[in-house]
Amino acid sequence: MCAILALLLADTTSHCRQAIFDGLTVLQHRGQDAAGIVTSRTTEDSTQLNQHKGLGMVRDVFTQGEMLKLEGNCGIGHCRYPTAGRTSSPEEAQPMYNNYPCGLALAHNGNLTNKNQLQDHVRGLHRHLNTQSDSEALLNVFAEELRLQLDSRGGQRTAKIEPEHIFAAVKRTMELCRGGYAVVMLIHDVGVLAFRDPWGIRPIMVGSRKSQTLEGGIDYVFSSESVASDTLGFDMLRDVRPGECMLAVPMKPNQPREDLGLISKQLVGDGNTVVPCLFEYVYFARPDSIMNGVSVYESRLQMGEKLADKIMREHPNEKIDVVIPIPDTSRTSALALAHRMGIPYREGFIKNRYIGRTFIMPEQSQRKKNVRLKLNTVRAEFEGLNVLLVDDSIVRGTTSTQLVSMARDAGANKVFFCSAAPEIRHPNIYGIDLPTASELVAFDRTSDEIAEVLKCDWVLFQDLDDLEEAVRAINPELKTFEGSTFSGSYVTNDVDVNYFSSLAEERNDFAKLTREQSVQSVRSTPSQV
Ligand SMILES: *[C@@H]1O[C@H](CO)[C@@H](O)[C@H](O)[C@H]1NC(C)=O
Repeated sequence: MCAILALLLADTTSHCRQAIFDGLTVLQHRGQDAAGIVTSRTTEDSTQLNQHKGLGMVRDVFTQGEMLKLEGNCGIGHCRYPTAGRTSSPEEAQPMYNNYPCGLALAHNGNLTNKNQLQDHVRGLHRHLNTQSDSEALLNVFAEELRLQLDSRGGQRTAKIEPEHIFAAVKRTMELCRGGYAVVMLIHDVGVLAFRDPWGIRPIMVGSRKSQTLEGGIDYVFSSESVASDTLGFDMLRDVRPGECMLAVPMKPNQPREDLGLISKQLVGDGNTVVPCLFEYVYFARPDSIMNGVSVYESRLQMGEKLADKIMREHPNEKIDVVIPIPDTSRTSALALAHRMGIPYREGFIKNRYIGRTFIMPEQSQRKKNVRLKLNTVRAEFEGLNVLLVDDSIVRGTTSTQLVSMARDAGANKVFFCSAAPEIRHPNIYGIDLPTASELVAFDRTSDEIAEVLKCDWVLFQDLDDLEEAVRAINPELKTFEGSTFSGSYVTNDVDVNYFSSLAEERNDFAKLTREQSVQSVRSTPSQV
């Protein structure tokens, strides 16, 4: 999981660097492994893309000196979440840069499930890939499609890139790339854009505000979560729709008021059906974010109520003295759960907030060591009591096992454990980095067997239907969700190995034909994703 952010300030003499830095800091919970910013000025005399990226938290990557170099009124930023099993290299930090057919930078949240085919495709075009990152492949796919669009104009190499070229190139990119993705890009001398996969698995929203320095100007932000937009003083306009591309460009002088620099186009599908990732609501997103019309906070309250109902159904006679959340994510659902059950809600675990989340740590040994550094018990909330611990989800179960043992050490009589998310039993391929299935505690285990591993009296998981209902209760228009990690069914599992070879043939035919006739008339649209 990662954070992406893009900003375009109407005033071309202003700088967006501070706002991007602040915005990334607000989105830091989405990834603490690496951070980067690319900026430029949207004026014709500007030639430079300014870039800085590195390993670590936002506050560690950027110094005053580095920040000063990031000049310009538009830019994009990224925070990276580490990928298990791979070394975190600074080369793979984002944004990614490319120089052909123009200055391009891209930041990506998600995961492309046909990365290997895309890499072959890109290399077949005599483009070099210098990392294993799917984002670099994605950028090159787009760059090539943009080049084709520009070349299709015939000889006018110096003409400005128009929105129609960008939209056509993004459309082709969406048709070629499979998986879950939300993307922001900076195109030199044009502006910034955002697009989202045709299912809308990964989130991205758009916001605007009045320019603080240019009379009548409008500034735009694209962000993974609305919290960044709120914090920077923008009003959230809406989510980018699935399969849609939105482009923010600087206002021209005397521009009509109805076209203040934000141009959008629906490229794949009708954009009305979003299939959001459930894990965003369960764990990733900040509770104060609004995502796909759903307040994350309110959805977590619903999760708590549904879980309370299930506990009362399945363990009607259990005497539970106190409900204790595992800080921080599960607080909201634990609060609602306790209220629904009429049991006191207490803070039994105190968190050291100056330490990273354990879920982020790539090594098991590190994860084990960190729990006690991170959480300590308040003995009075456990001693002689039957306690119900509430967590957002249970992944490997190592943290949960330690928490149960800490509760017992603190004198608890009985320890029950519940999870606001269902059993995690399947890998996620859309960018939520979970361990391999066999390392998941719920893999091939019943609830009783899981309780044995955790050494708790019983464990209880939310039903998938209830989790979906908890989110849908806030926005009834959401019909389906991406919940593969719970259900094992993958919404985009349609990668066809023949697709790329047929594409290559099409491209060869296409190359031959373009020598003779105009591009638009021969380019066929591949089957819809
Ligand atoms: C990303 O997709 C690949 C297939 O290209 C898959 O093997 C991998 O598990 C996925 N990773 C994540 C974090 O989604």
